Amino acid sequence: MAREYVRPESPHRAIPTESRNRGLPMIDVRNVHKSYRSGSRWVEALRGISCRIDRGRFAFIVGPSGSGKSSLLYLLGALDRPTSGEILVDGQSLTAMSEAQQNAYRREQIGFIFQAFNLISNLTVLQNVLVPFLPRGVTAAQRSRAVELLTSVGLADRIEHRPYQLSGGEQQRVAIARALVKSPRLILADEPTGELDSRTGDEIYTILRQLQESSGTTLVIVTHDRRFITPEDLVLEIQDGQLAGTAEPETVDYSATALTGR
Ligand SMILES: Nc1ncnc2c1ncn2[C@@H]1O[C@H](COP(=O)(O)OP(=O)(O)O)[C@@H](O)[C@H]1O
Ligand SMILES: [Mg+2]
Repeated sequence: MAREYVRPESPHRAIPTESRNRGLPMIDVRNVHKSYRSGSRWVEALRGISCRIDRGRFAFIVGPSGSGKSSLLYLLGALDRPTSGEILVDGQSLTAMSEAQQNAYRREQIGFIFQAFNLISNLTVLQNVLVPFLPRGVTAAQRSRAVELLTSVGLADRIEHRPYQLSGGEQQRVAIARALVKSPRLILADEPTGELDSRTGDEIYTILRQLQESSGTTLVIVTHDRRFITPEDLVLEIQDGQLAGTAEPETVDYSATALTGR
C-alpha cells in the first residue's frame, strides 16, 4: 500500500529517483548474513534475512535484545556491510556501492535517529538541525526549512537554545528535525524512545507519524517496545538473527530464504 505523494521541490536533493523506481519496494533485503568477530569467535548476528518494505511504510523491527535488530538497521543505512547477501534501497544495491558512494548515500538519502540524541552541545538547536549542510554552507531555503521543521515538532521558541537547556524529549525532537531536513528517502531510527519516559515516548511517536504522513518518507524503527505499534504498521520480528514473523505476510518473501538461515 505505497502512498502516493508529491515531494516538494528540494534544491539540495542530489539523486531524485522516486518516479523512476515507483514500482520497486523501498527496501529489498535478500538473504543477508552478518557475522562479527568477537575475540577468537564469530558471532552470527543475522542468519539469512529476506524482507521487503514498500515505500511510504511505517515499519518496525522488533525482537529481544541481541537478536540482530540494530545490525539489520545499520546495514540498511550502509553503516556496515553484510557478510553475504544483497540489500537494495530504492533499486540501488548498497552492497555494490563503493565507499564513496555509500558515504554519499548516507549523507544525502538517509535520516538517522538514534537512542542517544547525538546533538552537538556547543551548537544551537537550529544549527544542530542544519548540521548536514554545514560543510557546504547553509542556504536561505535550508534555513527556513529547518525553522519550519522545528516549528512542526513544537520547538519554534527554542531555536536559539543549546541542547543542555532542553529535556530529553525535546532533544529527540531536534534529532528528528535534523533527520528530516534533508528530505531523506528513508529514515532509520534505533530505539528512538529508549531513553525517554513513556509519555514522552508517546509524543515522539505522534510527531514521527505526523511527519511521515506529510512527507511520505519510509520509516524503519527498531524497538523492543510494542506499545507504539498500530495495526497499519509493518512489523518485522527478528529472533536469533532470523525473521520470525510479520504482521503483513504478503509483502515479505517467505520463500527460499526468509526462514532458513542455516
Ligand atoms: N560490532 C560488533 N562486534 C561483535 N559483536 C557484535 C557487534 N555488533 C553486534 N554484535 C553482536 O551481534 C548480536 C546482535 O546484536 P544487535 O544487532 O546489536 O542486537 P539488538 O539490536 O537486537 O539488540 C549480539 O550478539 C551482539 O553482541
Ligand atoms: Mg540494538
